[in-house]
Amino acid sequence: MANNYFGIDIGTSNIRIYNQIDNSIFMEKNMIAIENGNVLLAYGDSAFDMYEKAPASIVASFPVINGVIADISNMETLLKLFITDLSKGGLKPADYVIAVPTDVTDVEKRAFYDLVEDAGIKAHKIHVVEKAVADGLGLDIDVKNSQGVLIVNVGYSTTEISILSLGGIVLSRILKVAGKQFDEDIRNTVRKEFNLLIGEKTAEKIKISMSSLIKSGQNVVCYGRDIVSGLPIEREIPPEILDANLRDSFSQIIDNVKMVLERTPPELGADIYRNGLYLTGGASQIYNLAPLLSEATGLKVNTSEDPIDSVIMGIAKVINEEKYRSLAFYIEGMSGR
Ligand SMILES: Nc1ncnc2c1ncn2[C@@H]1O[C@H](COP(=O)(O)OP(=O)(O)OP(=O)(O)O)[C@@H](O)[C@H]1O
Ligand SMILES: [Mg+2]
Repeated sequence: MANNYFGIDIGTSNIRIYNQIDNSIFMEKNMIAIENGNVLLAYGDSAFDMYEKAPASIVASFPVINGVIADISNMETLLKLFITDLSKGGLKPADYVIAVPTDVTDVEKRAFYDLVEDAGIKAHKIHVVEKAVADGLGLDIDVKNSQGVLIVNVGYSTTEISILSLGGIVLSRILKVAGKQFDEDIRNTVRKEFNLLIGEKTAEKIKISMSSLIKSGQNVVCYGRDIVSGLPIEREIPPEILDANLRDSFSQIIDNVKMVLERTPPELGADIYRNGLYLTGGASQIYNLAPLLSEATGLKVNTSEDPIDSVIMGIAKVINEEKYRSLAFYIEGMSGR
């Protein structure tokens, strides 16, 4: 019998691990830095520190792309490193609950299970839970007894739109517009309107600061390279221009939410209308998305207090609360050990 449980939410940008022993949530960048093709240089947040700053001999990469595991070997290495760090006194057998996206192929889903099994982390039992179900639990929704819950999770590379009912997923749709696309929109605007080249990290910082800057009527102070002179400069940019150029991406998310609503069986629609939709995921905090979503759908938008952690908080509930255990399962063809 294993005596500890770990919960894992592997995001494209962040990995979150719940450790039952001390009831803690660990989060780092899901990134690995390799030097000269084979030497492990850094992982997690310290690999991200090197990103966009390292010489060509160092490759810092995300092993998960668009929510699915693209680089199995590096993902196994990362998981083993993180679990070893969390297992003070050495790796011991443990049980695992891992979240998987819904609207992906069976092979892609199975890869999450295989990852835990093959990472060399002494996994005893491995349970899988649908990300949206965990999300619902993390948002304090009684997903087992609710008959129509709409969750929109705007992460780094994907937005996952899901309709839940009675603990299962009725409809799900993944689209590749989320935080990373918002960063890209900001970079493009800054380049086109202000002749300034900025990096991904700068764009992300601007995105995160937009809300408070707009509310306090301040401009964004932006450092980058001037396209014309080629020199590094500082420029002030009104955040409203960035907001206006993010609207195309917001529209894509909104249109997809509407599409899911149109396909939702009417009996579930009534519950959704009463309760509103639930908006979560790190990038859901971007300025203006919540009110625009509410306006376009006519639904109340419930936002989350911990949008970055809602999935892992739900996984912790699956682990700790007996009544939610049944929400975790083995994917067909996989056997628990
Ligand atoms: N305050 C904020 N305002 C806007 N965006 C934010 C804020 N905080 C974090 N983000 C964005 O949230 C994104 C990360 O969210 P999250 O951790 O939910 O993604 P992920 O789970 O790693 O990715 P995915 O779900 O796509 O696989 C990043 O793009 C980050 O810039
Ligand atoms: Mg996520």
